[in-house]
Amino acid sequence: MEKITISLIKADVGGYPGHSSVHPRLMEVADDSLQKAKKDGLLIDFKILAAGDDLQLLMSHRKGTDNEKIHKLAWKTFEKATKMAKELKLYGAGQDLLKDAFSGNVRGMGPGVAEMEFKEREGEPLIAFMMDKTEPGAFNLPIFRIFADPFNTAGLIIDPSLHNGFKFEIFDVIKHRKVLMESPEEMYDMLALIGAKSRYVIKSVYPKKNPKVPEEETVAAISTEKLYQIAGKYVGKDDPVALVRAQSGLPALGEVLEPFSFPYLVSGWMRGSHNGPMMPVSFKDARCTRFDGPPRVIAAGFQIAEGRLVGPVDLFDDPAFDQAREKAGEIADYMRRHGPFEPHRLPMQEMEYTTLPSILENLEDRFADV
Ligand code: F6R
Ligand code: MG
Ligand code: MG
Repeated sequence: MEKITISLIKADVGGYPGHSSVHPRLMEVADDSLQKAKKDGLLIDFKILAAGDDLQLLMSHRKGTDNEKIHKLAWKTFEKATKMAKELKLYGAGQDLLKDAFSGNVRGMGPGVAEMEFKEREGEPLIAFMMDKTEPGAFNLPIFRIFADPFNTAGLIIDPSLHNGFKFEIFDVIKHRKVLMESPEEMYDMLALIGAKSRYVIKSVYPKKNPKVPEEETVAAISTEKLYQIAGKYVGKDDPVALVRAQSGLPALGEVLEPFSFPYLVSGWMRGSHNGPMMPVSFKDARCTRFDGPPRVIAAGFQIAEGRLVGPVDLFDDPAFDQAREKAGEIADYMRRHGPFEPHRLPMQEMEYTTLPSILENLEDRFADV
């Protein structure tokens, strides 16, 4: 059977109000645009979703990853949504469309991209994760736990298909280079890198000697676009997305969701300048309010049927995650009480990419030698 490609492409093209959520009209405009592409046969299926102020286009097709037609469709769709955002005077209309003209691929133009191509299995569960008010490295901890931590994923010990572990492709987003590492053999070296989540970002995960899934097939893909590097100045955080396949020789759905029961700290939140807890929420609660957050993640679950996206199931809309949300609320309180002090506010090195340096510059001539 022909391979299927899943593309999740997202952009903030205007918030409502402020940077909190996506206006329903933008979702309608995006729906019309992709509906047309589906009729024309470019897409097999699609879903329009929203996380915080980010408009999310989840598409299935047979064109492969980095396909010009698919990327152009996403770009044009964001342009149409931007037009509507301007009409409604939504906040920061067109914010993530950093380049004027499309040039073959949306990577490096502002939108975030997670894509994977694979042969659809007998049963093919897919989870699309979408985060707001944080950066791509926010996926390091959960992706590591899903595919490498036996205290999270029982299958790594119990299931012979998972027992050989996984390969992780890690991007150095500062030096623009990448490295492929194997778990469990290189787990400690891998953690030495990905623990520094603002620099080393897991880009994709591959199976290893897995009898059920071919080695070259991606089983998890994470967006790694860094907006400030494209724009050359602070233009908001990157609000990453990820696609994860599950079951039958891969981590079970519940093993994929389990890391989010712990509201771990990520950077982002207010003005992209603060550490705060990652709160798993339902679609309807994917609105960033308190101090423009706290950072949130939604999970949309699907079964794929000949490319059709059967779903979504709103996976964090479940009392099993109430405790994580409550804990996230407590952590938010605790962190907030630090006000402008580190480690609530990000360390100086990361503040370089915000508007703080312009404030500090004004103080330069006040300093005397000691
Ligand atoms: C964080 C974010 C918001 C804004 C903040 C100020 O990623 O988008 O917290 O940084 O609301 O926004 P402006 O400068 O647009 O008023
Ligand atoms: Mg915004
Ligand atoms: Mg956002």
